[in-house]
Formats: sequence, C-alpha cells, structure tokens
Amino acid sequence: MENNNTFEVSSVRYPQVVHMGSDSLRKLGQEAVELGGHRVMVIADKGIVAVGIAETVQDQLKESGLEVYLYSEFKQSPSLEDVNTCAAQAREKKIDLLVGVGGGSSIDVTKSTAILGTNSGNFNDYLGLHNIPKRGLPKILIPTTAGSGSEASQAVVLKDEVDGVKKVAYSRYLMADTVILDPLLTLSMPRTVTVDSGLDALITSIEHYISLGSNPPTDIAALESIRLIAGNLRTAFAYGRNIKARYDMLLGSFFAGASSSAGLGGIHCLCYPLESLFQLTHGRANAVIAPHVLEFNRTSTMTKFSVIAEAMGEKVDTLTLVEASKKAVSAMREILADLGVSTRLRDYNVSRESLSDMAELAVKSGSRLLQTNPRILSIEDAKDIYEKAW
Ligand SMILES: [Fe+2]
Repeated sequence: MENNNTFEVSSVRYPQVVHMGSDSLRKLGQEAVELGGHRVMVIADKGIVAVGIAETVQDQLKESGLEVYLYSEFKQSPSLEDVNTCAAQAREKKIDLLVGVGGGSSIDVTKSTAILGTNSGNFNDYLGLHNIPKRGLPKILIPTTAGSGSEASQAVVLKDEVDGVKKVAYSRYLMADTVILDPLLTLSMPRTVTVDSGLDALITSIEHYISLGSNPPTDIAALESIRLIAGNLRTAFAYGRNIKARYDMLLGSFFAGASSSAGLGGIHCLCYPLESLFQLTHGRANAVIAPHVLEFNRTSTMTKFSVIAEAMGEKVDTLTLVEASKKAVSAMREILADLGVSTRLRDYNVSRESLSDMAELAVKSGSRLLQTNPRILSIEDAKDIYEKAW
C-alpha cells in the first residue's frame, strides 16, 4: 500500500447527520421519528444508567410518542455473545430503531445489534472486511466519552469469548445514521476515563495521519482531532466541568473516528499485549507505548511529524525539518507527563523477561495494523521498542 502522495484509490465515509452543541440531545425525539422509529431500544451501559443519562434519553423518546425499551446487559468490553443476546431481545420486541448511548462499548453493541435486526444469524457470521450483506436497522449514536470515535467509524470491535481475541467487523452498514454530540452528557466522566479515552483518541488520530492508508479527507479530520485534543485534554483533566473543553474533546474524538478509514499502525499493534496480558485499558496501553513507537516511526515521514508538532501547539517555523519532527515526539511526552501517565513499562508490572514474547505476539497478531504503519516493523524492532520503553 502507498500513501496519498501517490494518488492510489482510497475512500472515506461519514455518518449521514451530526447534531452538535450544548443540549443537542433535544434533537433526539425528532430525529427518531424522521428515521421511522416506533419501537425503540436504548442501549446504554450500566454506568450510564446509574448516572441517569439513560433515563433522560428515554424521556426524550417517550415525549415524541415512541415506545421505548432499555437494554444494558453487556460487559465493559462487549463480546459477540453480548451482541447476539441483545439482538435476540430486539427481534423479540420487534424493535425498529436503536439508540446507543455511552462509551465505545454501548456504541459498538448498538451498531452490531442494528445489523442483526435485518440480517439473519449471529454476528459471528459477519466479522472481517465487508461481509455484511444488507443495511441494518436505523441507529442514532450518542457518545458520552471522548475517546473511541466509534460513532463516526464503520468498524466495531468485539471480544470472541471462545479464543479471548478481539475481533473486528468493518462495513458501510456499520456507519451511524445520526450522531448527537452533546458535551453536557460528558461532564460527569471520571478523570481516569477522561485521560485514557482522550489519549486513545489523540494517539489514534496521529496513527491515522501518518498511516500509509491516509488520504486528504482523513488527513483533515485527523489533524483537526490532534489540534482539538492536544489543546483541551489538559483542561478537561484539570476541571471536568469546563463545557468548552468537553465539547472540543467530543469533537476531537468524533474526528478521530471520521479519519479511521486511514488505518492504524505500530502503536495500536504494540499496545495489544499490554491489554491482553497486563490488563491495561486500551487508552493507557496506547499511551505508554506511544512516544517510543513515534520515535521509531519519525524518520519515515518527517514532514507529517512536523505538521503534527504544529497541531500540538509547538512552534516549528524556525526549525530544521529534523528538529521539527522531533517536536511531535517531545510534545507527546509532555502531555503524558502533565497527565501523570508513566511511559515506562516497568511501572505497569511488565517484567523484562516477557518482552520477547510480547514482541512476537504483537507483530504476529497485529500484522493487519502493520500494513499501514509508515515504517516496516519486525519482531526484532518490536523487541527493541519494548526494551527502550522498559
Ligand atoms: Fe484506539
């Protein structure tokens, strides 16, 4: 695969409608009616139910005369089985519209369940690239964390309980009909979720921007995401009730999702063993390894690195290209230090002896991710990176 400089054919997809701004949730009822909903299932994780957001969402729908059911019986890291169970409920209740509200797990369960509303069988049948035969039920997605970007992407990630591996499905039919970005729903997000999900969105956008699969529209979205998150994550961390910072974080996360067709790279590849073997959250695992992989990738595309540095607030116009590219890596280190995130593997109970096995696991299971990494990354390289990060 070549990057966008060579004019290879590539594509980009977006949700049909996006409502945004403070109290944009009030658009929900009208939107549900316009999408032809009568019997609506609200899919929200238990945390969202506990803080009362699921109830507010249900009230909005009921006020528009719709019949509403709530579903929240799925795990924090949802599985294929969770989706199949949720879909069985939706079929039984003859649901014709889905509303997903919450973090990436609620959103991904909603997107997958919508597919099973019109396609027969289990979601296991539709994993992989473009294996979903027809459009699912209409779906409205309302993210309450600023991190996964799943509301703007055509991918879902679900755990396969049989082998314990996270599986991906990718299809135009997984794209949202409507997205609502209301910062008021994100004000109560706990600090660790703010940091881990925000860093995931920032790092994801950086990977999209330098990816060999990037194209001009994904570059625009990814750069805007980097600018918004690098400029607001510290504020959202320091004072979570700052609506402007929360709104910019929500937009930044949306743009991370909107650039996802570019593909990922080495950071997402090398973070996998930290999640699966050492139980770090996805965002934290990405953050720990990010500066080390960025340093490895830097020389492959120094112009893009200098643009990233600028988007992160660095002054680069008087620097040489080499110096400017290094600023992207140092800016990443600085934001992690300000958020109190250690980038040393030993601080997360990773033993030095496990680094070789981790390198092999990462490169073998992440070969798809490495196809779009801007620098060839071997098992030996992965081991070197882990050693430097230890
Ligand atoms: Fe990610």
